[in-house]
Amino acid sequence: MPSMSYQWVKVAALAVALAAGGAAQAAGDAEHGKQIGYTCLGCHGIENYKNVYPTYNVPKLVGQHAEYIVAALKEYRGKQRAHATMYAQASSLSDQDMEDVAAYLAGAVLPAGPAPNGTPPQKVTELCSACHGANGVGITGDYPTLAGQHADYIARALVEYQKGDRKNPIMGPFVAPLSLADIKLIADYYAAQRPELKTEPRPSYRLP
Ligand code: HEC
Ligand code: HEC
Repeated sequence: MPSMSYQWVKVAALAVALAAGGAAQAAGDAEHGKQIGYTCLGCHGIENYKNVYPTYNVPKLVGQHAEYIVAALKEYRGKQRAHATMYAQASSLSDQDMEDVAAYLAGAVLPAGPAPNGTPPQKVTELCSACHGANGVGITGDYPTLAGQHADYIARALVEYQKGDRKNPIMGPFVAPLSLADIKLIADYYAAQRPELKTEPRPSYRLP
């Protein structure tokens, strides 16, 4: 009976999702992550801190999926992403350090449910929302959350996938058909989604 096998597929998919979620949570030690994450806050812990040459905002990480943060760090280390500073940062971390620092920097993941803020651009509905959600919350831990991310960073990332400075077999085909106008529209749309990614407040250097 087709309906029955469909139910089984759903149950099996749920079991896999739960197992993956459980494993990801057990993997990172946020306390250790806090110790080694201090240098990260020198850039990721300052509101609207900018990368220079070219100038764009450093990405927000609070509320991001920890699994995706680990994947991104491995891509900087493996040079699938071309960014000299993040290459140096990621190269100093072991795989376990990455899990730990991701658990610390991500904090509480954004809720998956909220309705989109505004009507999604047609390209978002056609090409993006199946993985990144119409509301910008990545539907699994492998898909980055974009809700409230800096628009200039989102646009920069999309252009880098187009140019091949970010090599990713999944994203490559989806960015290929986008014009610069599409990219700007999509970046502004996802940046305006709520609730949103945030910047970890940097601990004060001042003594009490
Ligand atoms: C000197 C500033 C600086 C420091 C220090 C720094 N980062 Fe970054 N980070 C950046 C910039 C700029 C980017 C965007 C790079 C790009 O365009 O791909 C970035 C990107 C990232 C990303 C990708 C986010 C995404 O949405 O894809 C992660 C994850 C990350 N950094 C984690 C860390 C961790 C962990 C540390 C500490 C071990 C750290 N960073 C230290 C500047 C910094
Ligand atoms: C099949 C799933 C899928 C689809 C569809 C998809 N993406 Fe992605 N997206 C991913 C994955 C996986 C990554 C992480 C790639 C990496 O590690 O660099 C990603 C990364 C990104 C990033 C980088 C985020 C960051 O924090 O650096 C942006 C921006 C993005 N996608 C936007 C889009 C847009 C816009 C569309 C539609 C035109 C789209 N994606 C379609 C799966 C998808």
